[in-house]
Amino acid sequence: MLIKVKSNSDPLSSEITPESVYLNRRRFLSLGASASVSLSLGGMSSLSTAGPIDPSVFSGLNSTNYAPGEAATPFETASTYNNFYEFGTSKDDPARYANEMTVDPWSVKVEGMAGKTGVFPLEDLIKGLVLEERVYRLRCVEAWSMVIPWVGFPLRDLITRLEPQGSAKYVFFETLNRPSEMRGMRSFSSTIDWPYVEGLRMDEALHPMTMLAVGMYGKELPNQNGAPLRLVVPWKYGFKSIKSISKIRFTDKREKTSWEKAGPSEYGFYSNVNPKVDHPRWSQKTERRLPNTLFSPNRIETRMFNGYAEEVESLYAGMDLKKNF
Ligand code: MTE
Repeated sequence: MLIKVKSNSDPLSSEITPESVYLNRRRFLSLGASASVSLSLGGMSSLSTAGPIDPSVFSGLNSTNYAPGEAATPFETASTYNNFYEFGTSKDDPARYANEMTVDPWSVKVEGMAGKTGVFPLEDLIKGLVLEERVYRLRCVEAWSMVIPWVGFPLRDLITRLEPQGSAKYVFFETLNRPSEMRGMRSFSSTIDWPYVEGLRMDEALHPMTMLAVGMYGKELPNQNGAPLRLVVPWKYGFKSIKSISKIRFTDKREKTSWEKAGPSEYGFYSNVNPKVDHPRWSQKTERRLPNTLFSPNRIETRMFNGYAEEVESLYAGMDLKKNF
């Protein structure tokens, strides 16, 4: 993303889910390691696993195509043309450098207005949640787009498990904050106030289309795409889909996100895909569907809410979307 200030249908897992698609354990941790779980989540085993998701969970998943008739972007493109500023600002920096990030083991801190707070090994946090595949469009605010088969689960399944208080109105997420493994964070010219922070209103977070992904194209997420856990909000510009989540916070106050801080007149909190509201420096009426070339620009019209208006427009009834961009 470019910054002006810088001068230099309900989850359709309607069928009974076979046991094999539940997240399962690859190996047991030593007693010492599992004893480090600071709080146990109700209904979850105190035993935990370490490391990336067991590859066997990716077979036999329910799959729903939310971009019918549109070809999925080749994996090669989706995993080499990335925005992950923690690793640099060029599109090929994440594919080059994100392997420097340790994703095994991974823990997520849950804080704020919820019944279940603490630091949880990822496997404990998501154990037992039902995985599915969903093909969604991803529309970047820079006016390019892709179609990606994600593997994950509805965010609301995890939120329910964490028992947010009734007064919690927002949920915020933070990316891993580890400059020693993220060379973009060490760059002096960085415009982002680290760690990368994103947030959703609670009703957006609970919407059945909002997903937490652990994989794509039938396998684990590559680091450059946000391993081991990333948000996917398909009706919003791609920067809302925060990668490599290490913190989840429930709050009653709207906090400023990283991009709002970096360019408040350019990047709003809502960031719903909206062809009628241009970015101050470029049009949002069309998009380049990747992969494209100079001679085959593959330019298509951008649709309201990225084509998901029917599913999500009621969330914004009565709101002025020019003001709340
Ligand atoms: N998450 C973090 N932590 N850091 C980032 O720089 N970039 C965002 C989003 N999530 C970003 C991030 C932007 S601008 C986009 S368009 C998408 O990730 C890109 O996701 P992809 O690389 O998997 O296509």
